[in-house]
Amino acid sequence: MRDIDEHTITAAVLASLEACDDQRLRQILGALVSHLHDFVREVQLTEEEWLQGIRFLTATGQACTDTRQEFILLSDTLGVSMLTVALNQRRSPAATEATVLGPFHVDDAPRAEQGQDIAAGAPGRPLDVDIVVRSSDGSPLAGADVDVWQADEDGLYDVQAGTQRRARALMKTDAEGRLRFRAIVPTGYPVPTDGPVGRMLVASGRHPWRPAHIHFIIKAQDHETLTTHLFREGDPYLDSDVVFGVRKSLVTKMDAGLTYTFVLDRKE
Ligand code: BEZ
Ligand code: FE
Repeated sequence: MRDIDEHTITAAVLASLEACDDQRLRQILGALVSHLHDFVREVQLTEEEWLQGIRFLTATGQACTDTRQEFILLSDTLGVSMLTVALNQRRSPAATEATVLGPFHVDDAPRAEQGQDIAAGAPGRPLDVDIVVRSSDGSPLAGADVDVWQADEDGLYDVQAGTQRRARALMKTDAEGRLRFRAIVPTGYPVPTDGPVGRMLVASGRHPWRPAHIHFIIKAQDHETLTTHLFREGDPYLDSDVVFGVRKSLVTKMDAGLTYTFVLDRKE
């Protein structure tokens, strides 16, 4: 008969996975069990702390609604979302780097034409944006789909402010791969702090701020889709983004207009 103690339990749980036919599931569950057990041993978790952890995860689930995903926010603030992006969206050195999607993308953004003001009444200082989308071989990508969204000067996305769709648009690049439009100068904003993740940030002495940024998803035929942001140079939170999304190559000047060239890798 097996005898379970603190030294034998990890092997026993791993052995229980041997009947799992799905090799990938077995690998993931096995590594999860090994790391979780090591974690419990390393910190010598007390029963009270275990219960506190269970309560925290329960509250995280209970804070989720159709429009709020507190578990993703937990993943974001622990750097797990950005680590997953960095591992899965490795691109050639020439290509623009990816960052997290975030919770404020919508599938039904309004279409906009070249030159249009996409702020559509959102408060903020106007920003003229002039971007080019090209392939990593240098050729311009005409007709690329550019999906843009941003918070207003109060740090709120339209979906948070409860307004109609604004400060977001779906646009296309012209024959030279160029797209010009008017947006607003972005400001930094805090992630939602009225739930368990906010309490975790306070308890661990962290601030909730994201540096000012504009979101982009860029799609072009035969190319890898790019999900990224451009960050405003000079923002005080660039080095302490609460979701660890800042990559140096994505930081750019925005005070007298925004110009940037996005480079997409061709699909293998
Ligand atoms: C955002 O940039 O929209 C965002 C990303 C992660 C968590 C919260 C907001
Ligand atoms: Fe954002």
